[in-house]
Amino acid sequence: MKNNHFRPLLLLLTLLSLITPLMAHAYTPSPEILESRREFANDRFGIFIHWGIYSMFGQGEWYLNYGPRADEYAKAAAGFYPIGFDADQWAKAIRGSGAKYVCFTSRHHDGFSMWNTEQSDYNIVKASPFGRDVIKELSDACADNDLKLHLYYSHIDWTRPDYPRGRTGHTPDLDSTRYDWPAYRAFMDRQLTELLTNYGPIRAIWFDGWWDHDEDASPFDWQLDSQYELVHSLQPACLIGNNHHQSPFPGEDIQIFERDLPGENSAGLSGQDISPLPLETCNTMNGMWGYKLVDTNYKDSRTLIHYLVRTAGLGANLLLNIGPRPDGRLPEQALDRLRDIGQWMEKYGETIYSTDGAGFKADWGTATRLPGRTFIHLLTPESSDIFVPGELNVKRAFRYGDPTRPVNFSQKEDGIIIHLDSIPDEIDSIIELNYL
Ligand code: GLC
Repeated sequence: MKNNHFRPLLLLLTLLSLITPLMAHAYTPSPEILESRREFANDRFGIFIHWGIYSMFGQGEWYLNYGPRADEYAKAAAGFYPIGFDADQWAKAIRGSGAKYVCFTSRHHDGFSMWNTEQSDYNIVKASPFGRDVIKELSDACADNDLKLHLYYSHIDWTRPDYPRGRTGHTPDLDSTRYDWPAYRAFMDRQLTELLTNYGPIRAIWFDGWWDHDEDASPFDWQLDSQYELVHSLQPACLIGNNHHQSPFPGEDIQIFERDLPGENSAGLSGQDISPLPLETCNTMNGMWGYKLVDTNYKDSRTLIHYLVRTAGLGANLLLNIGPRPDGRLPEQALDRLRDIGQWMEKYGETIYSTDGAGFKADWGTATRLPGRTFIHLLTPESSDIFVPGELNVKRAFRYGDPTRPVNFSQKEDGIIIHLDSIPDEIDSIIELNYL
């Protein structure tokens, strides 16, 4: 009899013990977050900036990983005086490209902070003669030029002894057995609190480095839930992305793909499933993220515009990277490309911003959609007859921007065939379709 009494209670306790861990991971995005996600997805195009004292060595942002002692490397900070840094010029050049946001490396794996942090003297104000708070200047310039600011923040730190070393950054002068995770974690949380308190609205924190302790190498609990809660509590509209190359974890608001369009995996980092979250692909204009002297083989503007259009065709944003020079100036090659993309976006941005992806793949290019309208982007057509798949009830087709130039098409059961006079050779010939 007594036992029977306890049975429902036992059942309840068992159920609770099963549900509680799930509840700890449950994440209900706030209305502010949902609005930020919408705004982010509408933007479609942002510029990534990798800049720090690593830029001085001209060997990319991973230089410290490849041999130097961390204490020798750190001495470069005393020579960092980027005479050409002008946040407003950056913001104007970026805005001119049609990009709507900037993601800046606040602290990369080398551990040098690009703002006046109270948590470590290893920062641009205290350790360099430059003495200016780059993030402050950038956040002001972004606000003045109608750009949203995102901050890249590395979970890895190759300089601090308290960071529990994973696969990378075993600098010869640091004893990797003397780590102190609680101390390091508290340090990161205090830094994030500064970034999200002192620099106005930050639309996203872009974490990177989880893979340093991936499942195969050395399983590690990053305790992300509480860190994500901290970010969301400090700025309720701040999105969280993590470049972990996995399907999104609870608490994340965007899904990041590195060097690959969603659904492609040529770089080997993007095998993960595509989630319903807003998507962002990041890629470089040349080869490396941080400034690298020998890395002058920039993709041409046509290639980059194609990449942007293809990204939009997959319903994703493009975060295109620039590695500024050690003097703080954007490389001329990057400026040229920003200008070219900007001229193109000026004319055709309507077919990119706020659009949905095509929902199909085609050899000739891709398509984007607005309510009642589809934009066929002919990027690499090899025929003057273009098959567009889908149940399309097309009323009329014409050259984008000129409804007086109709384009012939024939209706098929599983799509339409657009008939052109010749194979187009423009960067992107856009045909607009309207529906019945
Ligand atoms: C990688 C690299 C890093 C770069 C990032 C950008 O994770 O470690 O250097 O910042 O990709 O996507």
